[in-house]
Amino acid sequence: MPAELTSFVGRSGELADVQRLLGQARLLTLVGPGGVGKSRLALRAATEAATDFPDGVRLAELSGLKGPYLLPGVVAEALGLPSRAGKSPIDSVIEHVADGELLIILDTCEHLVDACALLANLLLSQAPRLKILTTSRQALDIPGEYVLSVTPLGLPEGDAGGDALELFEQRAAVAVPGLRLTDSQRRTAAALCRRLDGIPMAIELTAVRLRPCHWNNWRRGSTTVSRSSTAGGKRR
Ligand SMILES: Nc1ncnc2c1ncn2[C@@H]1O[C@H](COP(=O)(O)OP(=O)(O)OP(=O)(O)O)[C@@H](O)[C@H]1O
Ligand SMILES: [Mg+2]
Repeated sequence: MPAELTSFVGRSGELADVQRLLGQARLLTLVGPGGVGKSRLALRAATEAATDFPDGVRLAELSGLKGPYLLPGVVAEALGLPSRAGKSPIDSVIEHVADGELLIILDTCEHLVDACALLANLLLSQAPRLKILTTSRQALDIPGEYVLSVTPLGLPEGDAGGDALELFEQRAAVAVPGLRLTDSQRRTAAALCRRLDGIPMAIELTAVRLRPCHWNNWRRGSTTVSRSSTAGGKRR
């Protein structure tokens, strides 16, 4: 499992939900729109659940996978299986997981949803103690699948900052070391988080693009941040 490169914010309720559902389900899919935090939640939850899987937790990252026929090979690689002449990757995977008590994460399934559904079905039927956690913008839709919808981070309301604002502040503090928001800047940041619908990916992209000069403008009393400082595009 890869180590986390950035701080993790909130999601205590969702982490508890994933733990509980992994206790019941053999296939759990985290579903939600792009950038909402499915992968981050899956990796954090799987790390926390690792002791429940004596034969390990393995991650197969599928976002760069171009075709369904490559899927068994990527899963075999995630399991650390060497390619063997005369043996197909899918046979190697089945042989490896058949008696194991392990968790496989299939991260980013939506572009290969049928292939992932077929593979999950096959592996779960051949390996009675295997569990699979997937992330996808759409459910795999196979019998026995539990689906958990991942929603955006909590938005600021009144004086309560919410996890969206916490993420914004943490990422902004990396982009502008030593940054401490004034109350007025915090209100503006809160408005930005609401405008970005609490989507972590959008919040991160916005926060890391802000430069000290933007914060100085805010300090002078501006209550909005210009589109050029919040929209995508080239970093300045
Ligand atoms: N709870 C969180 N704490 C800190 N950062 C987060 C959190 N959730 C998401 N992020 C960050 O937001 C970005 C998007 O999250 P993530 O990749 O998990 O979204 P996703 O739903 O899997 O997106 P996609 O549909 O594109 O696969 C990542 O950079 C991730 O590190
Ligand atoms: Mg993802």
